[in-house]
Amino acid sequence: MKPVRDRHAAERNAKLKVCVIGASGKLGRYMVQHALDRGYEVVGVCRAASVDKLGDLRDRITVATGATDDRDVIARAVDGCDGVLTVLVPRGVNHYAAGTAQAVLDHTRGGARLVFSCGWHISRDGLDVYPWKLRAIVKIAGPLARLARFADLDDQVDACQRVFTSNTRWTVVRGSDLTEGPSQGLPVWSRHVGDPKLSSNQTRRVDFALFMVAALTDDTLIHEAPAIVGRRAPSALAHAEATQELR
Ligand SMILES: NC(=O)c1ccc[n+]([C@@H]2O[C@H](COP(=O)([O-])OP(=O)(O)OC[C@H]3O[C@@H](n4cnc5c(N)ncnc54)[C@H](OP(=O)(O)O)[C@@H]3O)[C@@H](O)[C@H]2O)c1
Repeated sequence: MKPVRDRHAAERNAKLKVCVIGASGKLGRYMVQHALDRGYEVVGVCRAASVDKLGDLRDRITVATGATDDRDVIARAVDGCDGVLTVLVPRGVNHYAAGTAQAVLDHTRGGARLVFSCGWHISRDGLDVYPWKLRAIVKIAGPLARLARFADLDDQVDACQRVFTSNTRWTVVRGSDLTEGPSQGLPVWSRHVGDPKLSSNQTRRVDFALFMVAALTDDTLIHEAPAIVGRRAPSALAHAEATQELR
């Protein structure tokens, strides 16, 4: 048997089979496209009512229909996959995100790369320093969304805790506010919100997806929870310029 390091290097060059869980959403569709662009074989999981949202992508991937927290659907979809890209959405008040994360953690083969999406508000170690606007949204909109039974932010917190404490090769990508528009390239990242280079708090959704897909083959991101910002966001550009000047 090859040493683990060699095996992972070989996987990087092979045609990967990846599963996109939440494939029909905006982030999911971008991830499917990036994965196909890399020549990967793609399995997409989405709700039956959402299959049409896949458009032309539908004919280029294997579609598994069902709720993303349905353990049987996930078990079948991730079978034989080298990597799983999971959109964690705290929809409703029935632990949808936690159920989704747990199904992925339980059913993906050992050694597979698992990459999960969430927002900046998730903190792995409590050392993030949040802008007042984000604190206000979590404090005010969070309880309102729960009251309306629309979403439960704590569900995404629970989902991520399950990932952080799992014995898997995970990465949790924490997205800033998102905008649509053409790609600016791979976002830059930091271990903690509060790092000045993130302060613009804007990332193109297409680039959030790019970062998720790139993480599949970037072993330096294993057991990291990168908070990302757009490569051409003013704060990222200012940081790049300042570090260039110091050289
Ligand atoms: N929106 C932001 O500004 C923002 C900022 C930072 C991070 N993020 C993160 O980015 C990821 C994607 O979020 P997004 O806001 O950009 O949305 P999105 O990509 O459109 O994804 C929304 C997901 O929610 C699912 N969904 C919608 N209604 C549902 C329901 N009633 N029951 C179950 N699932 C339902 C959708 O599935 P269907 O296709 O089946 O409807 C889709 O997979 C999330 O992990 C989020 O935490 C978002």
